[in-house]
Amino acid sequence: MARPKIALIGAGQIGGTLAHLAALKELGDVVLFDIAEGTPEGKALDIAESGPAEGFDAALKGTQDYADIAGADVCIVTAGVPRKPGMSRDDLLGINLKVMKAVGEGIKANAPDAFVICITNPLDAMVWALQKFSGMPAEKVCGMAGVLDSARFRHFLSLEFGVSMKDVSAFVLGGHGDTMVPCVRYSTVAGVPLPDLIEMGWTTQDKIDSIVQRTRDGGAEIVGLLKTGSAFYAPATSAIEMAEAYLKDQKRVLPCAAYCDGDLGVKQMYVGVPTVIGAGGIERIMNIKLNKDEQKMFDTSVKAVKGLVDACKEIDSSLA
Ligand code: APR
Repeated sequence: MARPKIALIGAGQIGGTLAHLAALKELGDVVLFDIAEGTPEGKALDIAESGPAEGFDAALKGTQDYADIAGADVCIVTAGVPRKPGMSRDDLLGINLKVMKAVGEGIKANAPDAFVICITNPLDAMVWALQKFSGMPAEKVCGMAGVLDSARFRHFLSLEFGVSMKDVSAFVLGGHGDTMVPCVRYSTVAGVPLPDLIEMGWTTQDKIDSIVQRTRDGGAEIVGLLKTGSAFYAPATSAIEMAEAYLKDQKRVLPCAAYCDGDLGVKQMYVGVPTVIGAGGIERIMNIKLNKDEQKMFDTSVKAVKGLVDACKEIDSSLA
């Protein structure tokens, strides 16, 4: 049986890391697409040359031609520009919206049955625009943010408790921005919720509050350190987790930017919610109950995303 085909639209920092991970995990053959001549070809060849030592057989190809992504099973989109120190994700809106138009049309024409995972920021607005531009079914187009934000939250919690990251589970919901909602009540160490761990004296409310804030600022912390771009290892790993869930029909419960049509009270918008990812794409959204405080934070986040979506509609009237 032919190997699955994974198309990576954008062969920059995240795109290259995605290609490397997909090959290492033998998820399928990889096509790297980028407008920058030589970059996707160079990265594809470099990674292919690591095959003998790693022992993988995946084929890798770099291209500037959308025809090469024909029939892809998964498309992961990182095309666009990342932020620099002092920029918010929202500052990227105008430039990356134009990129989403070209990418959406390219995918629709060549890989209309693919499961599409968008990573380009500002994430929730870009995935919304990508779905509109491509006209593909909403359950087959989603955005990667929640897995990454939750991974950051889990990492910081594991440091606080001195326990394995494997035993920390956590949910971050809402938009992928300053207003994201790390759900303290739904985050656990081996099933024990954080509020219980505070009561048990394992940590304090103040420490949890500062971890929540560090999670919200997680992307900016990396941008501040790197100075020339934004995070790429953890974002790539997070998207690969989602792609694998789809390709292997794992029914993984993963938070991601999914199209909500009444889910968690959100109307016709993409926002971070807990989902089930399997062979059908986003197969289900978990309509979890939020308490009053969580609902307030979630509403604020949804409002921020709506502001960006409205800005997209103003820039490109075909989206209105
Ligand atoms: N089509 C295809 N590729 C494009 C296009 C386009 N229209 N426009 C830009 N690109 C390519 C660039 O040539 C570059 O190689 O997208 C790539 C982006 O790579 P990087 O600049 O290295 O950015 P990266 O760190 O990978 O982040 C990509 O993900 O997390 C988000 O905010 C981040 O929006 C950014 C995206």
